[in-house]
Order: sequence, then structure tokens, then C-alpha cells
Amino acid sequence: MAELLQKDIEELRQGEAYAPFEGDPNQFDKKFYIESYGCAMNFSDSEVVASILNDRGFGATKNFEEADLILLNTCSIREKAEQTVRTRLHDFKKAKHNNPGMLIGVLGCMAERLKAKLLEEEKLVDIVVGPDAYRSLPDLITEAEGGQKSVNVLLSREETYADISPVRLDSNGVAAFVSIMRGCNNMCTFCVVPFTRGRERSRDADSIVKECQDLFDRGFREVTLLGQNVDSYYHTSAEGKEVTFANLLEMTAKVSPLLRVRFSTSHPKDITDDVLHTIAKYHNICKYIHLPVQSGNTRVLQLMNRTYTREWYFNKVKRIREIIPGCGLSTDIISGFCTETEEEHKDTLSLIEHCDFDMAYMYSYSERPGTLAARRYTDDVPDEVKKRRLSEIIDQQHLFQRENYKRDIGKVFEVLIEGDSKKSNKDWVGRSSQNKVIVFPKNKEGLKKCDYVQVKITSATSATLIGEII
Ligand code: SAH
Ligand code: SF4
Ligand code: F3S
Repeated sequence: MAELLQKDIEELRQGEAYAPFEGDPNQFDKKFYIESYGCAMNFSDSEVVASILNDRGFGATKNFEEADLILLNTCSIREKAEQTVRTRLHDFKKAKHNNPGMLIGVLGCMAERLKAKLLEEEKLVDIVVGPDAYRSLPDLITEAEGGQKSVNVLLSREETYADISPVRLDSNGVAAFVSIMRGCNNMCTFCVVPFTRGRERSRDADSIVKECQDLFDRGFREVTLLGQNVDSYYHTSAEGKEVTFANLLEMTAKVSPLLRVRFSTSHPKDITDDVLHTIAKYHNICKYIHLPVQSGNTRVLQLMNRTYTREWYFNKVKRIREIIPGCGLSTDIISGFCTETEEEHKDTLSLIEHCDFDMAYMYSYSERPGTLAARRYTDDVPDEVKKRRLSEIIDQQHLFQRENYKRDIGKVFEVLIEGDSKKSNKDWVGRSSQNKVIVFPKNKEGLKKCDYVQVKITSATSATLIGEII
């Protein structure tokens, strides 16, 4: 699962599926198969869906050919993400032909964006369900079993699925996602999320802490608190208790000093000193912040409606490093947004140099129908220019990232063991608090997954540290 977390961040955003999972085959009458695309939020939602389906008598299978119900939890963030899903749908044609009773459902952001149109465009699809309507899945399945196509894409101002215990999918039992809020009120002009996920709402704090406690009791050692903009988390309980994101971080950190707490994603305009001080105060709150910048140029940032300037971002990074020395920092960058000039692109390159990110997710701009940018601006940077700028951004990041990783040689990090390394079962893999992947030989007896060890770094590539237990 922690492998998965890494994978989620590195690959799922590129639109790749994560491997499905196996349930107890004897417990259920019917089988469902689910694949998730897009961000961690979608992965987390699939775990809620699995719980709802278990209650409806569906157990999980890893083999879509034997499924009674195939579900794709989809992403709309870039055009490519939607193309990937359409290609995948066609892979299921033969399976459905062999088993005409099989139902195929589309969940998530693409379902929300395209609504009933999806049924016209993709004849194969029987069920379309938006992110706030998963509780209606059992009824929609009943309708579809009766031969009707069924759709529910109602967005909600309240739904947080707070009372549903997610069924952990493909979990390695070390790390889990915990959703703390849904939706987004930010309206970045390039972004489809506010349209597919609806208004922002925060989940009841006590239910979040209870879920973290429950995971800890089951042996998990890491939680990642998820939201599109975690710093604007705010919840008032029935008794009138007000909880900010800083308070919530503290509450989850207190579950156990052995439970690592991570979170994603922070918005530069909303992350407060209060949050930074809370991170600094608790050893088990990971010293790592994902702080998407999107562009290094103030005019472009304004067009994107990010509401901060290049200088504001620099100051945030400075503040983070003052309050949390050695904090890991990563970002998201978009190349070739509407009207971006060559000079403005160079500002992004120089920002990368200035900020010294440990890692970055880098994309070229993909216009999404219905977004503010699609309505207001012309997508006028030619494709080949977007691609060239993207590759310059990637080269620049890798250049500085290699140096960044090299500087860790000789340092000692506390590592939470996540399992065997991909390449060899003679090595462990885990991550530092700063979220860097560390591989080291199993030359100490008695260690197991979920243990913490001190590892001294002996060498580095641009994305992995190699070390030895001390
Ligand atoms: N809520 C998070 C992440 C949202 S989506 C945040 O605000 O950071 C993840 C990333 O996808 C964004 O940070 C952005 O870099 C990228 N992205 C979003 N819309 C995009 C688009 N239309 N084209 C290219 N990249 C996009
Ligand atoms: Fe999209 Fe901006 Fe909201 Fe992130 S903060 S989900 S980029 S609108
Ligand atoms: Fe994609 Fe929806 Fe997440 S558009 S990035 S799955 S919120």
C-alpha cells in the first residue's frame, strides 16, 4: 500500500490504473472488479465503494473476466486521463460478450463530467455514478440488473461518507489514505475538479480520528489525510467544537507516536504558520509538504486564479524551511498555460532552481471543457511548444533533484519499513519522514514490515536513496 502510495503519486496522476485486489471469495454471492484512475481521492473513494458493495453481497475479484460487475473509477483532470479510460472500457467488450449479464459501471470524475452522455458515447456502460452518489450504488445495480441503464450524478453539499468504514484495497497493511474533506471551492481556472467534485465540505473530525485509531489498532503505521486543499479543513462538531487543519493534524498525531501522519494537498495561499508549527512539534507528523506552484510567473499565476505571486510562493517556502528545518518539499507544475510567453516559461525554470524541490509532478496544459480557462482564454500555446517547455521543466527539475538527493549521502534517516524492495527480497524498502524512498539490505535479524529503523545513506540516484541500517 505504501508502494501504492508512491505509485499513486508517480503514476496514477498520469492516468494509470492501480492493480485491483482480492476479497474473501466464499463470503459473497457475486463478484465485482474495480480499477481506479486519477488522484489519491479516487483510490480512497474506491475503498468506500468496496464497503458499500460488500454490504450489497458483492465480493472483490482481481480477474475482470469472472466479475458480475466491472467498475472504473475515473479521472477527468487531463484529456489523456479520459482517453485511457475509454481505451480500457473497450478491453471489457469481449468479457461482456462472453457474459451478457455482466454490468459495467463508470464512477468518479468522468461520470460526473459527462453524466448520461457517457451512456450514449459508450454503449457498453450500464451504470454512471458521480463521486457524491455512491450510497445509491445498490439501487442503481438493482435497476441495471432489471435491464435499465441507471445514472446518479447528484453532487452534495454534505456527503463525506464519514460513517462508512472503507475496505482497504490491495493494502500492504502499512499505510492507508484517510479522506478528510471533499470537493474544492478554489476555482483555479485550468481545473475541472470543482465541477466534478462539487463544493468543499469537511468530514467530522472525530470520525477521522476514529478511522486513524482503527487503522493503528489493525497494525497500520502511516495515514495520509486527503483533501484537494487540506489547509482549508474546518469542522464544527454537534457540540460546537471547532477544528482547523492544524487541530486535526494534532489530534491524529496523538493517536500514537508510532503512527506517521502525512497529508495532501496543501495550497500555498492557505497553509498557515499554525500548521507548520504543528508539523514541527510532533515527531510523527511527516516533515514533507506537497505544495503545488503550477507556474513560476506572477501574471500566469493570476490567469490561473491561484491568488498568490511568485514572491509569495518564495516566502512560503522560506517560512516552511525556517519553521521545519530539513522539510521535504514537492510541487506540481503546468507548462504552456494560455498565453504563456517564453520569458514567463523561463520564470518557471528559475523557480525550480530557487526552490530546490525534492520531487515534482509536471504536466503540459490540457484544456478541459467547462472550466473558466476554457471559457475565458484561448488555448494558444502550440502543442509542440507545450511539450518542449515541459521537457525543459522536467530536465531542470531532474538536474536539481540529482544534486538534492546527493546531498543526503552520509545523513541518517528514520525509515518506516514498507516491505521488500522491488528489485530484491534481500533488501527492505521504506521512506523517510521527508518522503524519500530508501532501499537498504536486510542485514539485521528480527526486523519486519512496519518497524522503524535508522538508516545511513551511502549512495543516491535521482529518485532513490541507498543506505545501511545503523
Ligand atoms: N487540489 C490539488 C491537485 C489537483 S489536480 C491542488 O490544488 O494542488 C493535480 C494537478 O494536476 C494540479 O496540481 C495541476 O498541476 C494538474 N492539472 C490540473 N488541471 C490540469 C489541466 N487542465 N492541465 C494540465 N494539468 C492539470
Ligand atoms: Fe483544482 Fe485548484 Fe481546487 Fe486544486 S485547488 S483541485 S487545482 S481548483
Ligand atoms: Fe482526477 Fe477527479 Fe482526482 S479529476 S485528479 S480523479 S478529483
